[in-house]
Amino acid sequence: MTVPVIAIDGPGGAGKGTVSQMVAQQLGWHLLDSGSLYRITAYAAGQRGIALDDSTAVAQVARNLDVRFESAVGGVLVILQNQDVSAEIRTEEGGRAASVVAADAAVRAALIDRQRDFAKPPGLVADGRDMGSVVFSSAGLKIFLTASVQERARRRYKQLKDKGMDVSLPALSRDMEERDRRDSQRSVAPLRAAEDARVLDSTDLDVQEVVDLVIFWASEVYSL
Ligand code: DC
Repeated sequence: MTVPVIAIDGPGGAGKGTVSQMVAQQLGWHLLDSGSLYRITAYAAGQRGIALDDSTAVAQVARNLDVRFESAVGGVLVILQNQDVSAEIRTEEGGRAASVVAADAAVRAALIDRQRDFAKPPGLVADGRDMGSVVFSSAGLKIFLTASVQERARRRYKQLKDKGMDVSLPALSRDMEERDRRDSQRSVAPLRAAEDARVLDSTDLDVQEVVDLVIFWASEVYSL
């Protein structure tokens, strides 16, 4: 039986995480936050003193990750070897490190099956960069969610400020442009819309409007 999949890809800060969580919750489907796997890999490698550019060693870490995801109030907890690392992997530094290991073909290959295992009935919402183009290339609904760089930096700024973090908007903007460049110019699974993806620009939409549209499309495609 093929499991229905909604692939949601796009650059950082476009709102994929929040939208994917809300869509999964509303439909009662499973959720894959694939970025967290790259973040966890980079974190676990760092913990073992492995250099992020040591492709073979980092890929081995990725293959052997002892990680589980637990639903909790307000989000999902990431448990690495029985330790809650949810906060540690969500830092800006964690994002930078993730983007370095994510550019490595061996690391990406090591994480493919683990990601596909998330596709279980009644359905999966998969959030990432290559969900529609590589990991779930036969997904019935592929969305490329984007927004202007200024708007994405502003959203990330607000998110981090709300968490009490001390951040600067210009620095975030620069960081975001740099990460976009690295994610879209890497030779393996670069960030770009799959040919059959629906491009959704959320610059002038609020989260609920985006969620409603995704669910509308899903109900059309999957006759929900
Ligand atoms: O979505 P995020 O910020 O948690 O992703 C962290 C990094 O991992 C980001 O630089 C892009 C990369 N990534 C990727 O290459 N492929 C994915 N499917 C998900 C994330």
